[in-house]
Amino acid sequence: MGKTLNYDVIIIGSGAAGLTLALRLSPQLKVAVLSKSQLTEASTYYAQGGVAAVLDDTDSYASHVEDTLIAGAGLCHRDAVEMTVEHGPESVNWLMQQGVRFTTEDDSSEPHLTREGGHSHRRILHVADATGLAISSSLIQQVQKLGHVDLLENKVAIDLITRRRLGQAGPDHVLGVYVLDKDSGDIDTYGAPFVALCCGGASKAYLYTTNPDIATGDGVAMAWRAGCRVSNLEFNQFHPTCLYHPEAKSFLITEAMRGEGAILKLPNGDRFMQRFDPRCELAPRDIVARAIDFEMKRLGIAHVLLDISHRPAEFVRGHFPTLYERLLEFGIDITTDPIPVVPAAHYTCGGVVTSLQAQTDIPGLFAIGETASTGLHGANRMASNSLLECIVFASAAATSIHQQAQDLPKLGDLPIWDGSQVRDPDEDVVIAHNWDELRRFMWDYVGIVRTNKRLQRALNRVQLLRREIHEYYSNYRISNDLIELRNLVLVSELIIRSAMARHESRGLHYSLDYPNTANEARDTLLNPNAYGF
Ligand code: FAD
Ligand code: SIN
Repeated sequence: MGKTLNYDVIIIGSGAAGLTLALRLSPQLKVAVLSKSQLTEASTYYAQGGVAAVLDDTDSYASHVEDTLIAGAGLCHRDAVEMTVEHGPESVNWLMQQGVRFTTEDDSSEPHLTREGGHSHRRILHVADATGLAISSSLIQQVQKLGHVDLLENKVAIDLITRRRLGQAGPDHVLGVYVLDKDSGDIDTYGAPFVALCCGGASKAYLYTTNPDIATGDGVAMAWRAGCRVSNLEFNQFHPTCLYHPEAKSFLITEAMRGEGAILKLPNGDRFMQRFDPRCELAPRDIVARAIDFEMKRLGIAHVLLDISHRPAEFVRGHFPTLYERLLEFGIDITTDPIPVVPAAHYTCGGVVTSLQAQTDIPGLFAIGETASTGLHGANRMASNSLLECIVFASAAATSIHQQAQDLPKLGDLPIWDGSQVRDPDEDVVIAHNWDELRRFMWDYVGIVRTNKRLQRALNRVQLLRREIHEYYSNYRISNDLIELRNLVLVSELIIRSAMARHESRGLHYSLDYPNTANEARDTLLNPNAYGF
Protein backbone atom coordinates (compact mmCIF):
# COMPACT_ATOMS: atom_id res chain seq x y z
CA MET A 1 0.00 0.00 0.00
CA GLY A 2 1.26 3.46 -0.89
CA LYS A 3 2.44 6.12 1.56
CA THR A 4 1.15 9.66 2.06
CA LEU A 5 3.80 12.41 2.20
CA ASN A 6 3.24 16.12 2.68
CA TYR A 7 5.34 19.02 1.41
CA ASP A 8 4.95 22.76 0.85
CA VAL A 9 6.19 22.58 -2.74
CA ILE A 10 6.43 19.57 -5.04
CA ILE A 11 8.65 20.07 -8.09
CA ILE A 12 8.16 17.45 -10.80
CA GLY A 13 11.41 17.33 -12.78
CA SER A 14 15.15 17.59 -12.13
CA GLY A 15 16.21 19.55 -15.23
CA ALA A 16 17.26 23.20 -15.31
CA ALA A 17 13.72 24.39 -14.52
CA GLY A 18 13.09 22.12 -11.53
CA LEU A 19 16.56 22.47 -10.00
CA THR A 20 16.56 26.26 -10.35
CA LEU A 21 13.18 26.49 -8.63
CA ALA A 22 14.43 24.25 -5.79
CA LEU A 23 17.48 26.48 -5.33
CA ARG A 24 15.46 29.68 -5.43
CA LEU A 25 12.89 28.63 -2.80
CA SER A 26 13.17 29.75 0.79
CA PRO A 27 14.57 27.23 3.33
CA GLN A 28 11.36 27.76 5.30
CA LEU A 29 9.53 25.66 2.71
CA LYS A 30 9.66 21.87 2.68
CA VAL A 31 10.34 20.88 -0.91
CA ALA A 32 10.40 17.62 -2.90
CA VAL A 33 12.02 17.32 -6.34
CA LEU A 34 10.76 14.23 -8.17
CA SER A 35 12.57 12.69 -11.09
CA LYS A 36 11.16 9.75 -12.97
CA SER A 37 14.61 8.35 -13.71
CA GLN A 38 18.09 9.31 -12.50
CA LEU A 39 18.43 13.01 -11.63
CA THR A 40 20.62 13.70 -14.64
CA GLU A 41 18.32 11.97 -17.16
CA ALA A 42 16.81 15.16 -18.57
CA SER A 43 17.25 17.20 -21.75
CA THR A 44 19.18 19.71 -19.66
CA TYR A 45 22.03 17.25 -19.16
CA TYR A 46 22.40 16.71 -22.94
CA ALA A 47 22.40 20.39 -23.95
CA GLN A 48 25.46 21.18 -26.01
CA GLY A 49 25.35 24.70 -27.48
CA GLY A 50 24.83 26.91 -24.43
CA VAL A 51 22.87 29.74 -22.84
CA ALA A 52 22.05 32.97 -24.68
CA ALA A 53 22.70 36.27 -22.87
CA VAL A 54 23.68 39.78 -23.90
CA LEU A 55 27.21 40.34 -22.58
CA ASP A 56 29.19 41.77 -25.47
CA ASP A 57 29.55 45.57 -25.70
CA THR A 58 28.46 45.55 -29.34
CA ASP A 59 25.31 43.56 -28.48
CA SER A 60 22.10 44.88 -26.90
CA TYR A 61 18.86 43.69 -25.30
CA ALA A 62 17.01 45.24 -28.24
CA SER A 63 18.97 43.05 -30.65
CA HIS A 64 18.39 39.82 -28.67
CA VAL A 65 14.69 40.71 -28.42
CA GLU A 66 14.50 41.44 -32.14
CA ASP A 67 16.26 38.18 -33.13
CA THR A 68 13.90 36.18 -30.89
CA LEU A 69 10.84 37.91 -32.35
CA ILE A 70 12.04 37.24 -35.91
CA ALA A 71 12.72 33.54 -35.21
CA GLY A 72 9.30 33.28 -33.53
CA ALA A 73 7.64 34.38 -36.80
CA GLY A 74 5.28 36.95 -35.32
CA LEU A 75 3.91 34.79 -32.53
CA CYS A 76 6.21 35.60 -29.59
CA HIS A 77 4.73 37.59 -26.73
CA ARG A 78 6.90 40.66 -26.48
CA ASP A 79 6.57 40.89 -22.67
CA ALA A 80 7.87 37.31 -22.22
CA VAL A 81 10.72 37.95 -24.65
CA GLU A 82 11.77 41.20 -22.94
CA MET A 83 11.57 39.64 -19.49
CA THR A 84 13.74 36.69 -20.55
CA VAL A 85 16.32 38.73 -22.43
CA GLU A 86 16.64 41.38 -19.71
CA HIS A 87 17.25 38.68 -17.07
CA GLY A 88 19.91 37.01 -19.25
CA PRO A 89 23.10 38.48 -17.73
CA GLU A 90 21.79 38.06 -14.16
CA SER A 91 20.85 34.42 -14.92
CA VAL A 92 24.25 33.44 -16.28
CA ASN A 93 25.91 35.17 -13.29
CA TRP A 94 23.68 33.11 -11.01
CA LEU A 95 24.74 29.93 -12.88
CA MET A 96 28.38 30.90 -12.33
CA GLN A 97 27.65 31.35 -8.60
CA GLN A 98 26.26 27.81 -8.60
CA GLY A 99 29.62 26.59 -9.93
CA VAL A 100 29.15 26.53 -13.72
CA ARG A 101 32.52 27.36 -15.29
CA PHE A 102 31.77 28.74 -18.74
CA THR A 103 34.51 28.47 -21.37
CA THR A 104 36.56 31.68 -21.45
CA GLU A 105 38.46 33.51 -24.17
CA ASP A 106 42.01 32.19 -24.58
CA ASP A 107 43.67 35.27 -23.13
CA SER A 108 41.16 36.46 -20.51
CA SER A 109 38.58 35.49 -17.90
CA GLU A 110 35.77 36.79 -20.14
CA PRO A 111 33.34 34.09 -21.30
CA HIS A 112 33.84 32.96 -24.89
CA LEU A 113 30.66 33.77 -26.80
CA THR A 114 29.69 31.53 -29.67
CA ARG A 115 26.99 31.98 -32.31
CA GLU A 116 23.97 29.94 -33.34
CA GLY A 117 21.18 30.21 -35.91
CA GLY A 118 18.98 33.31 -35.78
CA HIS A 119 21.36 35.24 -33.47
CA SER A 120 22.77 38.36 -35.09
CA HIS A 121 25.54 38.56 -32.46
CA ARG A 122 27.85 36.23 -30.62
CA ARG A 123 25.94 35.77 -27.35
CA ILE A 124 26.00 32.08 -26.42
CA LEU A 125 27.89 31.20 -23.24
CA HIS A 126 28.95 27.59 -23.22
CA VAL A 127 31.05 24.99 -21.45
CA ALA A 128 32.90 23.68 -24.53
CA ASP A 129 30.28 21.48 -26.25
CA ALA A 130 28.82 19.96 -23.06
CA THR A 131 27.07 22.93 -21.43
CA GLY A 132 24.12 20.91 -20.13
CA LEU A 133 26.31 18.42 -18.29
CA ALA A 134 28.05 21.29 -16.46
CA ILE A 135 24.75 23.01 -15.58
CA SER A 136 23.04 19.81 -14.48
CA SER A 137 25.94 18.62 -12.29
CA SER A 138 26.49 22.03 -10.67
CA LEU A 139 22.80 22.54 -9.85
CA ILE A 140 22.38 18.98 -8.51
CA GLN A 141 25.43 19.46 -6.27
CA GLN A 142 23.97 22.68 -4.89
CA VAL A 143 20.52 21.19 -4.25
CA GLN A 144 22.09 18.19 -2.51
CA LYS A 145 23.47 20.62 0.11
CA LEU A 146 19.98 21.86 1.05
CA GLY A 147 18.40 20.33 4.14
CA HIS A 148 14.85 21.41 3.22
CA VAL A 149 14.81 19.75 -0.23
CA ASP A 150 14.31 16.00 -0.82
CA LEU A 151 15.75 14.93 -4.19
CA LEU A 152 13.86 11.78 -5.15
CA GLU A 153 14.77 9.53 -8.10
CA ASN A 154 12.60 6.90 -9.84
CA LYS A 155 9.35 8.59 -8.84
CA VAL A 156 6.89 8.96 -11.72
CA ALA A 157 4.14 11.53 -11.26
CA ILE A 158 0.91 10.07 -12.65
CA ASP A 159 -1.81 12.64 -12.11
CA LEU A 160 -2.47 15.84 -10.24
CA ILE A 161 -4.88 15.99 -7.32
CA THR A 162 -7.03 19.12 -7.38
CA ARG A 163 -10.08 20.38 -5.52
CA ARG A 164 -12.18 20.08 -8.66
CA ARG A 165 -11.15 16.47 -9.20
CA LEU A 166 -12.07 15.62 -5.62
CA GLY A 167 -15.45 17.27 -6.15
CA GLN A 168 -14.75 19.90 -3.47
CA ALA A 169 -16.76 23.12 -3.52
CA GLY A 170 -15.19 26.53 -4.07
CA PRO A 171 -12.45 27.69 -6.41
CA ASP A 172 -10.08 25.08 -7.79
CA HIS A 173 -6.59 24.61 -6.28
CA VAL A 174 -3.87 22.04 -6.71
CA LEU A 175 -3.57 19.70 -3.71
CA GLY A 176 -0.86 17.26 -4.72
CA VAL A 177 0.01 14.42 -7.06
CA TYR A 178 -0.12 10.62 -7.26
CA VAL A 179 3.31 9.12 -7.83
CA LEU A 180 4.49 5.67 -8.92
CA ASP A 181 7.55 4.57 -6.96
CA LYS A 182 9.42 2.56 -9.59
CA ASP A 183 11.46 0.71 -6.95
CA SER A 184 8.59 -0.52 -4.75
CA GLY A 185 5.82 -0.52 -7.39
CA ASP A 186 3.59 1.40 -4.91
CA ILE A 187 1.53 4.45 -5.79
CA ASP A 188 2.13 7.13 -3.17
CA THR A 189 0.08 10.25 -2.42
CA TYR A 190 2.12 13.47 -2.27
CA GLY A 191 0.24 16.46 -0.85
CA ALA A 192 1.27 20.12 -1.34
CA PRO A 193 -0.42 23.48 -1.90
CA PHE A 194 2.13 24.24 -4.65
CA VAL A 195 3.14 21.93 -7.47
CA ALA A 196 5.49 22.85 -10.33
CA LEU A 197 5.44 20.90 -13.58
CA CYS A 198 9.06 20.98 -14.80
CA CYS A 199 8.74 17.81 -16.87
CA GLY A 200 10.45 18.84 -20.12
CA GLY A 201 9.00 18.40 -23.60
CA ALA A 202 7.29 15.78 -25.74
CA SER A 203 9.72 15.11 -28.58
CA LYS A 204 9.50 11.36 -27.93
CA ALA A 205 6.22 11.58 -29.85
CA TYR A 206 8.47 11.31 -32.92
CA LEU A 207 10.40 8.31 -34.16
CA TYR A 208 13.67 10.25 -34.47
CA THR A 209 14.54 12.66 -31.70
CA THR A 210 17.55 14.26 -30.02
CA ASN A 211 15.81 13.97 -26.65
CA PRO A 212 16.34 11.47 -23.83
CA ASP A 213 13.60 8.90 -23.15
CA ILE A 214 11.97 11.00 -20.41
CA ALA A 215 10.59 13.54 -22.95
CA THR A 216 7.08 12.08 -23.09
CA GLY A 217 4.98 15.19 -22.47
CA ASP A 218 3.91 14.13 -18.96
CA GLY A 219 3.59 17.70 -17.70
CA VAL A 220 1.34 18.80 -20.56
CA ALA A 221 -0.80 15.66 -20.23
CA MET A 222 -1.22 15.98 -16.45
CA ALA A 223 -2.08 19.67 -16.74
CA TRP A 224 -4.63 19.01 -19.52
CA ARG A 225 -6.35 16.26 -17.54
CA ALA A 226 -6.51 18.60 -14.55
CA GLY A 227 -8.18 21.33 -16.66
CA CYS A 228 -5.39 23.65 -17.88
CA ARG A 229 -5.31 25.23 -21.34
CA VAL A 230 -2.44 24.40 -23.66
CA SER A 231 -1.17 26.46 -26.55
CA ASN A 232 0.87 26.35 -29.79
CA LEU A 233 1.59 22.62 -29.60
CA GLU A 234 1.81 22.38 -33.41
CA PHE A 235 5.22 24.03 -33.25
CA ASN A 236 7.56 21.06 -32.89
CA GLN A 237 11.12 22.04 -33.55
CA PHE A 238 13.24 19.69 -35.64
CA HIS A 239 16.95 20.19 -35.07
CA PRO A 240 18.64 20.21 -38.48
CA THR A 241 21.71 18.20 -37.50
CA CYS A 242 21.35 14.91 -35.67
CA LEU A 243 24.04 12.29 -36.43
CA TYR A 244 22.94 9.77 -39.07
CA HIS A 245 24.52 6.48 -38.04
CA PRO A 246 22.94 3.05 -37.48
CA GLU A 247 24.47 2.74 -34.01
CA ALA A 248 23.88 6.29 -32.78
CA LYS A 249 20.73 6.93 -30.77
CA SER A 250 19.67 10.55 -30.25
CA PHE A 251 23.02 12.12 -30.94
CA LEU A 252 22.94 15.84 -31.63
CA ILE A 253 25.60 17.80 -33.53
CA THR A 254 25.45 21.23 -31.96
CA GLU A 255 24.37 24.25 -33.97
CA ALA A 256 27.41 26.01 -32.51
CA MET A 257 29.42 24.00 -35.04
CA ARG A 258 27.66 25.93 -37.80
CA GLY A 259 28.18 29.05 -35.64
CA GLU A 260 31.93 28.37 -35.88
CA GLY A 261 31.83 27.92 -39.65
CA ALA A 262 30.61 24.36 -40.42
CA ILE A 263 28.99 24.05 -43.85
CA LEU A 264 26.07 21.90 -44.96
CA LYS A 265 26.74 19.94 -48.14
CA LEU A 266 25.07 17.42 -50.38
CA PRO A 267 26.77 14.02 -50.80
CA ASN A 268 28.44 15.33 -54.01
CA GLY A 269 30.10 18.11 -51.96
CA ASP A 270 27.86 20.98 -53.16
CA ARG A 271 26.81 23.61 -50.61
CA PHE A 272 23.03 24.23 -50.76
CA MET A 273 21.78 26.53 -47.96
CA GLN A 274 22.44 29.68 -50.04
CA ARG A 275 19.59 28.57 -52.32
CA PHE A 276 17.14 28.71 -49.38
CA ASP A 277 18.13 31.71 -47.22
CA PRO A 278 20.71 34.51 -47.37
CA ARG A 279 21.76 33.61 -43.82
CA CYS A 280 22.77 30.19 -45.17
CA GLU A 281 23.73 27.71 -42.40
CA LEU A 282 22.85 30.27 -39.72
CA ALA A 283 19.23 30.79 -40.75
CA PRO A 284 16.72 29.88 -38.00
CA ARG A 285 16.24 26.15 -37.46
CA ASP A 286 12.88 25.77 -39.17
CA ILE A 287 14.39 27.06 -42.41
CA VAL A 288 17.52 24.90 -42.22
CA ALA A 289 15.59 21.73 -41.25
CA ARG A 290 13.07 22.26 -44.07
CA ALA A 291 15.85 22.87 -46.59
CA ILE A 292 17.57 19.61 -45.58
CA ASP A 293 14.24 17.74 -45.71
CA PHE A 294 13.57 19.22 -49.17
CA GLU A 295 16.97 18.20 -50.54
CA MET A 296 16.74 14.70 -49.03
CA LYS A 297 13.33 14.14 -50.64
CA ARG A 298 14.34 15.78 -53.96
CA LEU A 299 17.48 13.67 -54.33
CA GLY A 300 16.25 10.54 -52.53
CA ILE A 301 19.24 10.66 -50.16
CA ALA A 302 19.31 9.33 -46.60
CA HIS A 303 21.26 12.26 -45.13
CA VAL A 304 23.25 15.39 -45.91
CA LEU A 305 26.74 16.29 -44.66
CA LEU A 306 28.01 18.81 -42.12
CA ASP A 307 31.63 19.77 -42.67
CA ILE A 308 33.98 21.70 -40.39
CA SER A 309 37.17 20.07 -41.66
CA HIS A 310 38.29 23.36 -43.31
CA ARG A 311 38.93 24.86 -39.85
CA PRO A 312 42.28 24.10 -38.15
CA ALA A 313 42.24 20.69 -36.43
CA GLU A 314 43.37 22.20 -33.12
CA PHE A 315 40.50 24.72 -33.17
CA VAL A 316 37.95 21.97 -33.92
CA ARG A 317 39.23 19.66 -31.16
CA GLY A 318 39.39 22.59 -28.71
CA HIS A 319 35.83 23.79 -29.35
CA PHE A 320 34.11 20.45 -29.78
CA PRO A 321 36.03 17.98 -27.61
CA THR A 322 33.02 15.82 -26.71
CA LEU A 323 31.80 15.60 -30.29
CA TYR A 324 35.33 14.91 -31.54
CA GLU A 325 35.77 11.95 -29.16
CA ARG A 326 32.24 10.60 -29.61
CA LEU A 327 32.33 10.73 -33.40
CA LEU A 328 35.74 9.04 -33.48
CA GLU A 329 33.98 6.07 -31.83
CA PHE A 330 31.79 5.91 -34.94
CA GLY A 331 34.82 6.13 -37.23
CA ILE A 332 34.33 9.83 -38.10
CA ASP A 333 37.26 12.20 -37.57
CA ILE A 334 35.60 15.63 -37.68
CA THR A 335 38.91 17.38 -38.33
CA THR A 336 39.09 15.62 -41.71
CA ASP A 337 35.68 14.04 -42.47
CA PRO A 338 32.22 15.49 -43.05
CA ILE A 339 29.49 14.26 -40.66
CA PRO A 340 26.34 12.55 -42.02
CA VAL A 341 23.33 14.37 -40.50
CA VAL A 342 19.51 14.39 -40.61
CA PRO A 343 16.85 16.50 -38.86
CA ALA A 344 15.24 15.05 -35.69
CA ALA A 345 12.53 16.20 -33.28
CA HIS A 346 14.21 18.43 -30.73
CA TYR A 347 12.02 20.88 -28.85
CA THR A 348 8.34 21.38 -27.96
CA CYS A 349 7.71 25.12 -28.40
CA GLY A 350 4.12 25.05 -27.13
CA GLY A 351 2.87 23.70 -23.83
CA VAL A 352 0.85 24.57 -20.75
CA VAL A 353 -0.31 28.19 -20.84
CA THR A 354 1.33 30.25 -18.10
CA SER A 355 1.60 33.82 -16.91
CA LEU A 356 4.94 35.61 -16.61
CA GLN A 357 5.12 34.17 -13.09
CA ALA A 358 4.82 30.61 -14.54
CA GLN A 359 1.33 30.29 -13.03
CA THR A 360 -1.07 27.96 -14.91
CA ASP A 361 -4.87 28.16 -15.00
CA ILE A 362 -5.09 26.23 -11.70
CA PRO A 363 -4.12 28.18 -8.56
CA GLY A 364 -1.01 26.71 -6.93
CA LEU A 365 0.02 24.89 -10.12
CA PHE A 366 3.07 26.19 -12.00
CA ALA A 367 4.62 25.05 -15.29
CA ILE A 368 8.23 25.95 -16.09
CA GLY A 369 10.75 25.23 -18.86
CA GLU A 370 9.91 23.12 -21.88
CA THR A 371 6.57 22.04 -20.38
CA ALA A 372 5.30 25.62 -20.43
CA SER A 373 4.07 27.96 -23.11
CA THR A 374 5.15 31.34 -21.78
CA GLY A 375 4.98 33.22 -25.09
CA LEU A 376 8.78 33.40 -25.41
CA HIS A 377 9.26 31.06 -28.36
CA GLY A 378 6.29 31.85 -30.60
CA ALA A 379 6.30 29.72 -33.74
CA ASN A 380 9.98 28.76 -33.48
CA ARG A 381 12.39 28.78 -30.55
CA MET A 382 15.70 30.46 -31.16
CA ALA A 383 18.74 28.36 -30.23
CA SER A 384 19.94 28.57 -26.62
CA ASN A 385 16.94 30.59 -25.42
CA SER A 386 15.42 27.60 -23.63
CA LEU A 387 17.92 27.03 -20.84
CA LEU A 388 17.69 30.77 -20.19
CA GLU A 389 13.89 30.52 -20.06
CA CYS A 390 14.16 27.74 -17.45
CA ILE A 391 16.31 29.91 -15.15
CA VAL A 392 14.30 33.13 -15.62
CA PHE A 393 10.83 31.63 -15.18
CA ALA A 394 11.84 29.35 -12.29
CA SER A 395 13.09 32.42 -10.46
CA ALA A 396 9.82 34.26 -11.18
CA ALA A 397 7.82 31.24 -9.95
CA ALA A 398 9.82 31.18 -6.70
CA THR A 399 8.96 34.84 -6.05
CA SER A 400 5.29 34.12 -6.69
CA ILE A 401 5.29 31.05 -4.40
CA HIS A 402 6.91 33.10 -1.62
CA GLN A 403 4.19 35.73 -1.93
CA GLN A 404 1.37 33.17 -1.92
CA ALA A 405 2.93 30.99 0.80
CA GLN A 406 2.26 33.71 3.36
CA ASP A 407 -1.34 32.59 3.19
CA LEU A 408 -1.02 28.83 2.71
CA PRO A 409 -4.27 27.09 1.81
CA LYS A 410 -5.33 24.17 4.05
CA LEU A 411 -4.96 20.83 2.32
CA GLY A 412 -7.16 18.44 4.25
CA ASP A 413 -6.76 14.68 3.92
CA LEU A 414 -6.17 13.36 0.43
CA PRO A 415 -7.65 10.06 -0.76
CA ILE A 416 -5.08 7.38 -1.45
CA TRP A 417 -4.85 5.82 -4.93
CA ASP A 418 -7.39 3.06 -5.49
CA GLY A 419 -5.67 0.17 -7.27
CA SER A 420 -7.96 -2.56 -5.94
CA GLN A 421 -9.79 -3.25 -9.21
CA VAL A 422 -6.79 -3.72 -11.47
CA ARG A 423 -5.11 -6.92 -12.66
CA ASP A 424 -1.49 -7.59 -13.59
CA PRO A 425 -0.94 -6.85 -17.28
CA ASP A 426 -0.99 -9.88 -19.55
CA GLU A 427 -0.20 -8.19 -22.85
CA ASP A 428 2.87 -5.97 -22.53
CA VAL A 429 3.30 -6.38 -26.28
CA VAL A 430 0.30 -4.04 -26.72
CA ILE A 431 2.21 -1.22 -25.06
CA ALA A 432 5.39 -1.82 -27.08
CA HIS A 433 3.45 -2.05 -30.34
CA ASN A 434 1.44 1.11 -29.66
CA TRP A 435 4.57 3.08 -28.73
CA ASP A 436 6.14 2.17 -32.03
CA GLU A 437 3.02 2.82 -34.10
CA LEU A 438 2.45 6.24 -32.53
CA ARG A 439 5.99 7.50 -33.05
CA ARG A 440 6.08 6.24 -36.61
CA PHE A 441 2.85 7.89 -37.79
CA MET A 442 3.71 11.12 -35.96
CA TRP A 443 6.99 11.17 -37.90
CA ASP A 444 5.36 10.36 -41.23
CA TYR A 445 2.17 12.46 -40.98
CA VAL A 446 2.89 15.25 -38.46
CA GLY A 447 6.54 15.97 -39.28
CA ILE A 448 8.42 18.81 -40.96
CA VAL A 449 5.96 19.14 -43.88
CA ARG A 450 2.23 18.61 -43.23
CA THR A 451 -0.96 18.31 -45.28
CA ASN A 452 -4.65 18.20 -44.29
CA LYS A 453 -4.88 14.59 -45.42
CA ARG A 454 -1.86 13.43 -43.41
CA LEU A 455 -3.11 15.21 -40.31
CA GLN A 456 -6.56 13.64 -40.66
CA ARG A 457 -4.97 10.19 -41.00
CA ALA A 458 -2.90 10.83 -37.90
CA LEU A 459 -5.98 12.00 -35.97
CA ASN A 460 -7.93 8.84 -36.87
CA ARG A 461 -5.10 6.64 -35.68
CA VAL A 462 -4.34 8.54 -32.49
CA GLN A 463 -7.99 8.44 -31.42
CA LEU A 464 -8.05 4.67 -31.81
CA LEU A 465 -4.88 4.39 -29.78
CA ARG A 466 -6.24 6.69 -27.08
CA ARG A 467 -9.32 4.50 -26.61
CA GLU A 468 -7.21 1.33 -26.50
CA ILE A 469 -4.78 2.79 -23.98
CA HIS A 470 -7.63 4.10 -21.84
CA GLU A 471 -9.11 0.63 -21.58
CA TYR A 472 -5.71 -0.85 -20.78
CA TYR A 473 -5.03 1.88 -18.20
CA SER A 474 -8.36 1.30 -16.42
CA ASN A 475 -7.93 -2.45 -16.10
CA TYR A 476 -4.27 -3.21 -15.55
CA ARG A 477 -1.62 -2.40 -12.98
CA ILE A 478 0.19 0.80 -13.86
CA SER A 479 3.78 0.76 -15.12
CA ASN A 480 6.16 3.50 -16.19
CA ASP A 481 5.75 2.53 -19.87
CA LEU A 482 1.97 2.69 -19.62
CA ILE A 483 2.02 6.09 -17.90
CA GLU A 484 4.34 7.49 -20.57
CA LEU A 485 2.40 6.01 -23.48
CA ARG A 486 -0.89 7.32 -22.10
CA ASN A 487 0.62 10.80 -21.85
CA LEU A 488 2.30 10.69 -25.23
CA VAL A 489 -0.88 9.56 -27.00
CA LEU A 490 -2.78 12.45 -25.41
CA VAL A 491 -0.12 15.04 -26.22
CA SER A 492 0.17 13.71 -29.79
CA GLU A 493 -3.57 14.23 -30.24
CA LEU A 494 -3.17 17.78 -28.92
CA ILE A 495 -0.30 18.36 -31.38
CA ILE A 496 -2.41 17.06 -34.28
CA ARG A 497 -5.50 19.06 -33.29
CA SER A 498 -3.39 22.22 -32.91
CA ALA A 499 -1.84 21.63 -36.35
CA MET A 500 -5.30 21.12 -37.88
CA ALA A 501 -6.51 24.36 -36.33
CA ARG A 502 -3.77 26.42 -38.01
CA HIS A 503 -4.76 27.29 -41.56
CA GLU A 504 -1.47 28.86 -42.59
CA SER A 505 2.26 28.12 -42.63
CA ARG A 506 4.19 29.90 -39.92
CA GLY A 507 7.54 29.17 -38.27
CA LEU A 508 7.83 25.46 -37.58
CA HIS A 509 4.35 24.62 -38.88
CA TYR A 510 4.51 24.16 -42.63
CA SER A 511 1.46 22.91 -44.56
CA LEU A 512 1.38 22.23 -48.30
CA ASP A 513 -2.37 23.02 -48.20
CA TYR A 514 -1.81 26.43 -46.59
CA PRO A 515 1.64 27.57 -47.80
CA ASN A 516 1.06 31.28 -47.01
CA THR A 517 1.38 33.11 -43.72
CA ALA A 518 -1.78 34.84 -42.47
CA ASN A 519 -1.67 38.60 -41.87
CA GLU A 520 -2.65 38.23 -38.27
CA ALA A 521 -0.58 36.06 -35.90
CA ARG A 522 -2.70 34.11 -33.40
CA ASP A 523 -1.85 31.55 -30.74
CA THR A 524 -3.57 28.17 -30.99
CA LEU A 525 -5.34 27.69 -27.67
CA LEU A 526 -6.95 24.36 -26.72
CA ASN A 527 -9.18 24.21 -23.66
CA PRO A 528 -9.86 20.82 -22.02
CA ASN A 529 -13.30 22.01 -20.96
CA ALA A 530 -14.28 22.09 -24.64
CA TYR A 531 -13.18 18.49 -25.31
CA GLY A 532 -14.36 15.19 -23.90
CA PHE A 533 -10.92 13.76 -23.09
P1 FAD B 1 14.32 18.62 -18.73
O1 FAD B 1 15.71 19.07 -18.57
O2 FAD B 1 13.99 17.76 -19.90
O3 FAD B 1 13.91 17.84 -17.40
C1 FAD B 1 12.69 17.17 -17.30
C2 FAD B 1 12.63 16.46 -15.97
O4 FAD B 1 11.28 16.07 -15.71
C3 FAD B 1 13.46 15.19 -15.88
O5 FAD B 1 14.10 15.17 -14.62
C4 FAD B 1 12.43 14.07 -15.91
O6 FAD B 1 12.79 12.89 -15.19
C5 FAD B 1 11.28 14.75 -15.19
N1 FAD B 1 9.97 14.18 -15.46
C6 FAD B 1 9.27 14.18 -16.63
N2 FAD B 1 8.07 13.59 -16.44
C7 FAD B 1 8.02 13.20 -15.15
C8 FAD B 1 7.06 12.52 -14.36
N3 FAD B 1 5.90 12.09 -14.86
N4 FAD B 1 7.34 12.28 -13.06
C9 FAD B 1 8.52 12.66 -12.52
N5 FAD B 1 9.48 13.31 -13.24
C10 FAD B 1 9.21 13.57 -14.52
N6 FAD B 1 18.64 24.46 -24.99
C11 FAD B 1 19.45 25.51 -24.86
O7 FAD B 1 19.02 26.58 -24.42
N7 FAD B 1 20.75 25.41 -25.22
C12 FAD B 1 21.30 24.26 -25.70
O8 FAD B 1 22.47 24.21 -25.99
C13 FAD B 1 20.45 23.14 -25.86
N8 FAD B 1 20.95 21.98 -26.36
C14 FAD B 1 20.14 20.88 -26.38
C15 FAD B 1 20.67 19.66 -26.78
C16 FAD B 1 19.91 18.52 -26.71
C17 FAD B 1 20.48 17.20 -27.15
C18 FAD B 1 18.56 18.59 -26.27
C19 FAD B 1 17.72 17.36 -26.19
C20 FAD B 1 18.02 19.81 -25.90
C21 FAD B 1 18.80 20.97 -25.96
N9 FAD B 1 18.30 22.20 -25.56
C22 FAD B 1 19.12 23.27 -25.46
C23 FAD B 1 16.95 22.31 -25.03
C24 FAD B 1 17.03 22.33 -23.51
O9 FAD B 1 18.04 21.44 -23.10
C25 FAD B 1 15.74 21.92 -22.86
O10 FAD B 1 14.66 22.62 -23.41
C26 FAD B 1 15.79 22.23 -21.36
O11 FAD B 1 16.91 21.61 -20.81
C27 FAD B 1 14.53 21.74 -20.70
O12 FAD B 1 14.71 21.82 -19.32
P2 FAD B 1 13.50 21.40 -18.39
O13 FAD B 1 13.98 21.57 -17.01
O14 FAD B 1 12.28 22.07 -18.83
O15 FAD B 1 13.30 19.83 -18.74
C1 SIN C 1 22.52 22.94 -30.11
O1 SIN C 1 23.55 22.89 -29.44
O2 SIN C 1 22.48 22.96 -31.35
C2 SIN C 1 21.23 22.98 -29.40
C3 SIN C 1 20.96 24.34 -28.97
C4 SIN C 1 19.53 24.48 -28.59
O3 SIN C 1 18.72 23.59 -28.82
O4 SIN C 1 19.20 25.55 -28.06
